[in-house]
Amino acid sequence: MSGNIRPDSMVRITTPALAQAFIEEQTALLREQIGEGRVLLALSGGVDSSVVAALLIRAVGRQLTCVHVNHGLLRKGEPEQVIEVFGHQLNADLVYVDATDRFLDKLAGVDDPETKRKIIGKEFIEVFAEEAKKLNGIRFLAQGTIYPDILESDGVKSHHNVGGLPEDLQFELVEPVKLLYKDEVRMVGKELGLPDEMVYRQPFPGPGLGVRCTGAITRDRLEAVRASDAILREEFAKAGLASRVWQYFTVVPDFKSTGICNNKRTYAWPVVLRAVNSVDATAATIEEIPYPLLHTITDRILAEVPGVNRVLYDLSPKPVSTIEWE
Ligand code: XMP
Repeated sequence: MSGNIRPDSMVRITTPALAQAFIEEQTALLREQIGEGRVLLALSGGVDSSVVAALLIRAVGRQLTCVHVNHGLLRKGEPEQVIEVFGHQLNADLVYVDATDRFLDKLAGVDDPETKRKIIGKEFIEVFAEEAKKLNGIRFLAQGTIYPDILESDGVKSHHNVGGLPEDLQFELVEPVKLLYKDEVRMVGKELGLPDEMVYRQPFPGPGLGVRCTGAITRDRLEAVRASDAILREEFAKAGLASRVWQYFTVVPDFKSTGICNNKRTYAWPVVLRAVNSVDATAATIEEIPYPLLHTITDRILAEVPGVNRVLYDLSPKPVSTIEWE
């Protein structure tokens, strides 16, 4: 498909002016393609779908409907940020679906990593399709496909793209950033006025915190993942590491060890810290976090996160380990 091949003549977007030119060009093309039609977008809050949303809002305003599905596995503050930026600041037509209970009920007792992913993917499509059916006259489906997704079409992203919609819900695709590399998408997002926190976000897997709450997900352990992740991100931001380290997060495995607190024995989960550097996720090295920062993070997690009595630092590169624990 020639439309999916980046022509040699295409200029790499390396400056704000080039990003502006891209935005102008795409705005015209999107208006031409969409006309008076209605467009639907699954807005995860990740860089790619956010940039596509912002481009479409600029081009066709409220002809775009964004659906933000909260599967209960998002990081702390994420749904709130999507609502604030798109619902309030950009005045988008935003449908927010809190499907937490639905996802967690389906996932209860499921410990196999691939089965967990499949359930999350399938449920996501079902929730999205249900919302789409409630809307009338949608002709287009916008997607945040980017060029690396096309180059490795079986790549990791297939997990959370809205690929398998039912047959009675087929739309014409709108993919305005499909020929861009990630750094170009970020530059366009910056020029569109999206907040840095969104534009320079670290990679986040489609199944979200679900792959960091290993084994069968329980609500209390999931909360421990979310709370410890928030502490790690806060401390990395304070230490100036947030934009320097490629990916950093916490994992709460489903085993317990003994501890002692207020002279009483405890039996609780460990939190594993992970911070890696990578170029394209196929290989990763370990970030050498300064010891004082490790101590601060450890002290905060032990003091603030219920159900946790131990903090570990994962020193394993990829290969032999993967970046995520599942
Ligand atoms: P691994 O763990 O395979 O991860 O070394 C490589 C990169 O891919 C991300 N990742 C995923 N992204 N759906 C996604 O959209 C997934 O199921 C998934 N699993 C891993 C991971 O966060 C890392 O950046």
